[in-house]
This record gives sequence, structure tokens and C-alpha cells, in this order.
Amino acid sequence: MKQRVVSGMRPTGRLHVGHYHGVLENWVKLQDEFDCFFFVADWHSLTTEYADTAAIRDNIREMVLDWVAFGLDPAKSLVFQQSLVSHHAELNLILSMITPVSWLERCPTYKEMQENLEAKDLSTFGFLGYPVLMTADIILYKATRVPVGQDQLPHLEIAREITRRFNHLYGQVFPEPEALLTETPKLLGLDGRKMSKSYGNSIYLSDTAEETTKKVLSMMTDPARVRRADPGDPDVCVAFNLHRIYVPREKLEEIIPACRNASIGCVECKRILAECMNERLAPPRARRGELATAPGCVDDLLLDGSRRASLVSDAVMADARAALKI
Ligand code: TRP
Ligand code: SF4
Repeated sequence: MKQRVVSGMRPTGRLHVGHYHGVLENWVKLQDEFDCFFFVADWHSLTTEYADTAAIRDNIREMVLDWVAFGLDPAKSLVFQQSLVSHHAELNLILSMITPVSWLERCPTYKEMQENLEAKDLSTFGFLGYPVLMTADIILYKATRVPVGQDQLPHLEIAREITRRFNHLYGQVFPEPEALLTETPKLLGLDGRKMSKSYGNSIYLSDTAEETTKKVLSMMTDPARVRRADPGDPDVCVAFNLHRIYVPREKLEEIIPACRNASIGCVECKRILAECMNERLAPPRARRGELATAPGCVDDLLLDGSRRASLVSDAVMADARAALKI
């Protein structure tokens, strides 16, 4: 039997190529080897966006369009929306009864995010409980593996502790979920900082070919290459972190020495990158365009997936309630 995988993403809207190569591409690969549950963590968004929810619905739609266009297959995986499966909330409540507040206060992401998002008042019960809800998301489907990045490991550690505590108090109900760590290169954005929506330095999966080319041409290169005749170093070139992903090896082997001896200029070099990116992204972009015009397509897909997820979570909640004796 296949192991079960659960993972979620907060709906932040359109995904950029950093999200794709960091997370989504891996999810797509997991679909054949595992029994996969992938969901939109919209309640998790509320932990930081509760004061202004106007964008969430649209963000869900844009993100799910990217998911499906770039390879998540609802026929292989369960693709659904957290808030449409209310068992997530029920299990969150039960787990909150057994979770010591000190575990949550100790979580390194807790203070970090409060400091980073100073403009928002994150001294709420719900924000503190972020890892509890995440635990519920995972064990609600008795998942054994959770594909996450390094940044989510503290949350997963708490999830394992809460799971152990439940099993210890009420009997063995849930398997202890394990991380499925993926080595993901952090992609750099146009300006050399980490690619991030909030920095405005991203290339989106849904950008047009023209937008992509324009962005690539504006991308930072080796800062030591001031003049065309100055030799460059691909290892310190921001654009080159995308070359490594999109440009075929043979071509890279031409570009690297050509950069080092200044026989290629950065404009020409970045044009090659833009062409390779656009060629590779064209088919899923076209698919995305088709999906986006099919009325109700995303809503139907999420409703159907959530109904199917509920069938699984219903049985697990019955086990949990029986163990709890209520
Ligand atoms: N916290 C995760 C993130 O920000 C999203 C998430 C919510 C999640 N619930 C989850 C990931 C359960 C894995 C499993 O990326
Ligand atoms: Fe970067 Fe290419 Fe310019 Fe070299 S030639 S610095 S690899 S863009």
C-alpha cells in the first residue's frame, strides 16, 4: 500500500517560478508514488490576514489554477480546500485541549513572524495555534509523510509531539507524521534577493512570454561586469540561478566560458534564458488559460475534492471521538 502524503499551501495568489521549483514541482512528482492529499490552507491564511479577507477568494482561485495547469492532477491526488472540510476545525479544537501553550510560544516561527509582520497584530489565539491547526490537517487523514521545506520543520516537530500526546492519553489512533524533506534551491528574484511576492521581484508562472522576457532582461547579473568587455562569473550572477534550471546543459557549457572571457554579453545571455523559460512554460501556461476560461472549473474541482476528503476524515474523526469517549 502507498504511504499517505498530506501537504497544504496558504493561498497567496498567483505562484512564481520559485514556488514551482521549490514546492509544486515536487508535489507533482509525489503523485505517482504516494496517496496524496493537497489542500488550500485558507484557514491558515486567516491567522495573519483576518483583518482584510477581501483577496483570499481570488487568491485561492489563482493558486489552484497554477496547481492544476502545472501538473497537480485531481484524478491522481485529492485536491481540496481546508475550510470546506469542517473536521479540520473539530480536530483542531480537540488537539488544542491537549497542547501546552509553552510548546507554541517556544516555536521559533512564532516570534519571528510576529517581528517580521509588525504591522499586523498577531497576538491572537489563532496565530499562536497555527501549528495545532497544521497538526489537525495532517493527522486528520492519518498521513505518514509530509512534504515540507526547512522552514516548516519546527511546525512538524510540534505536530509529532501533539500526536504522541494524543495517542498517549487516549490510545493509539494516529500515526506519527514524518517530514519528507526536499532539497530545494532557493530561487533568487530579479534583484538578487530571495524571490518573493512581497519584494516585487518575481517571475510568475502565469506571466506572458513578453512579461517574462522583459523581467529576465532586467535581472541583475555579475555586478563586476560593468562594461561589455569585463569578464564575468556565472557563480555570482543572479540571472544564472535561473539558467541552471532552464537552459540545457550543452548550452550552459558554452555560456560559462563565454561569460568568463567576455565573449558573450549579458543581454544576449539573458535572451537565451528568456527563450528557454518561455519554451518550457508555454504548454502549462496555455493550459492555465483554458482552465481560467472554463466557468466554475476551480470551484467544482475544490468542491469535489473536499467531498472526497470528507469521506476519509469522517472515518478518522469517528476513531478519534471513540478514543476520546465522547
Ligand atoms: N504552514 C504551511 C506553510 O505555510 C502550510 C500548511 C498548513 C501545511 N497546513 C499544512 C503544510 C499541513 C503541510 C501540512 O507552508
Ligand atoms: Fe550572468 Fe550571462 Fe552576464 Fe555571465 S554573461 S554575468 S552568466 S548574464
